[in-house]
Amino acid sequence: MDHNTEAVSKVTVPWILERKLRAEKIACLTAYDYPTARLVDEAGIDLILVGDSLAQVVLGYDSTVPVTVEEILHHLRAVRRATRRALLVADLPYGAYHVSDEKALEVAIRYVKEGGAEAVKLEGGRKRAALIQRMVDAEVPVMAHIGLTPQSVHAMGGYRVQGKTLQSATELLADAEALEDAGSFAIILEGMPRELAAIVTQRLRIPTIGIGAGPDCDGQILIFHDLVGLCFLPRTKFVRPYADTAANLRQALAHFREDIVGGHFPDDSESYHWPASLRDQFERSCVAKDRPIGDEKADPMSF
Ligand code: KIV
Repeated sequence: MDHNTEAVSKVTVPWILERKLRAEKIACLTAYDYPTARLVDEAGIDLILVGDSLAQVVLGYDSTVPVTVEEILHHLRAVRRATRRALLVADLPYGAYHVSDEKALEVAIRYVKEGGAEAVKLEGGRKRAALIQRMVDAEVPVMAHIGLTPQSVHAMGGYRVQGKTLQSATELLADAEALEDAGSFAIILEGMPRELAAIVTQRLRIPTIGIGAGPDCDGQILIFHDLVGLCFLPRTKFVRPYADTAANLRQALAHFREDIVGGHFPDDSESYHWPASLRDQFERSCVAKDRPIGDEKADPMSF
């Protein structure tokens, strides 16, 4: 797809819902900046999430907990400028929807108005249903997110696969159904057994998007940096790296440094040049002023 000239068929919320009816898989990925978002969009990925994973993979925080609304908004704008086809979804970070529904709604509306988001995402089960309903009433489409929800890392006691007991699997199914009833247009299932994700997917009319939830979901999402091998965190079981970008970059950086140290960069073809006549003219004018080129001592004021 040529980003500048070709007509693109824009992905919309109804388009995402229709994919499920047609049993066509939905390809999703995170992005956080202009160049990577542009590559993701041009590759035909259907949905781009400016996730709060920004905190760890780009900003170097220990978890997703510290990232702020302003930080996400800053990256969202860059991704917006790069994205033409994909549906653009922005994550509500920890704290943005935990104080009051009013505050949460304000952030969601800022994402749409100031950041160009077409939907927002938030973590949590049934307890988010009323908030999701309010957002949908305010014309903000919402993507829900259950299972291993990284913002609850402290409450969960670490990053643990969820839904491994009968009770927690039953709770997660009830959460998913409540989030659908509240008006979510899709739901991320993260870190849960494949069998549970398959049942949730069968029971819902809205698409499920899996991450560490097996292949039976209606779509899949990964973190961009995991996919391209540019992450400094330990690799989790569900990540399949499609490139080793860190190794490629390391090689390029070492080569660049060697070329500078060895005097091989830049070469003549990478330099700007005078026309042949100008050097002669310049030298003559310096000689006329009795200031040979390179003789700084000739004029103590020269620099
Ligand atoms: O923040 C994020 O990137 C996410 C995905 C892992 C789904 O929530």
